[in-house]
Amino acid sequence: MTYYDQVAEAVEYVRGTVGKMPDIAVVLGSGLGDFANRVANARTISYSDIPHWPPSAVVGHAGKLVLGELCGKQVAVLAGRAHFYEGHELLRATFSIRVLGLLGVKTIILTNAAGGINMSFESGALMVIDDHINLFGTNPLIGPNDERFGPRFPDMTEAYSKRLRALVDKVAGERGIKVAHGVYAALHGPSYETPAEIRYLRTIGADAVGMSTAPETIVARHMGIEVLAISCITNMAAGVFDKPLNHAEVMETAARVKDQFIALLEGTIQGL
Ligand code: HPA
Repeated sequence: MTYYDQVAEAVEYVRGTVGKMPDIAVVLGSGLGDFANRVANARTISYSDIPHWPPSAVVGHAGKLVLGELCGKQVAVLAGRAHFYEGHELLRATFSIRVLGLLGVKTIILTNAAGGINMSFESGALMVIDDHINLFGTNPLIGPNDERFGPRFPDMTEAYSKRLRALVDKVAGERGIKVAHGVYAALHGPSYETPAEIRYLRTIGADAVGMSTAPETIVARHMGIEVLAISCITNMAAGVFDKPLNHAEVMETAARVKDQFIALLEGTIQGL
């Protein structure tokens, strides 16, 4: 079975299980799972029931697809994502994005937890991703190109939609939520960076660092889907302070700012 056929099979399963198809999808990062509860008339599908869909085993990632209504729009919320560091190939780690694309989703909002590199950031800040630097050392589009998904050499000039970035600023202004902007460096992890790596990332123009999002953005852009991505700066990156990093801190900070994050996401979806 070709990869395209696997995606099509997953699409058929989702179509056969729920009613209306989503226009907008939101991928929830570590600690943001609560957002899925905001969906009205929700139909929930466990990742393990969708053919070929990879599981997500990370603490803080639930592993379910929730379809329904939010702010009057048809949405799909992905509580949990599969990461490259879990051992999934990038083709598999970005499978969900392919399914969303074939379901007809036009806009994807990616969220993540990230380490702050820009010294003007504080833990708990929300950063709109203006651009990324993919340092995975690989790319989800490697291999034969299936033109049904998109072109061989997709443009990445505006990987993160200017229109949607401006919309977030407008919503943030109206709701009194502070947002920063910056460049996201994507490293596959799972070890956190060394202080020397963080100094290097700062030198090449990164403001934040994380272990997801860039592959998903590449695949979404390949399919012509508009992308918005927002990082929760859950901690300052390695070496900024004289203390070790840990996943518990990431989860704690994400929990602390989740209400603000949810308000920002809802306002943005409303404005779409
Ligand atoms: N580095 C990489 N990924 C992360 C971090 C970090 O400091 N914090 C949350 N995700």
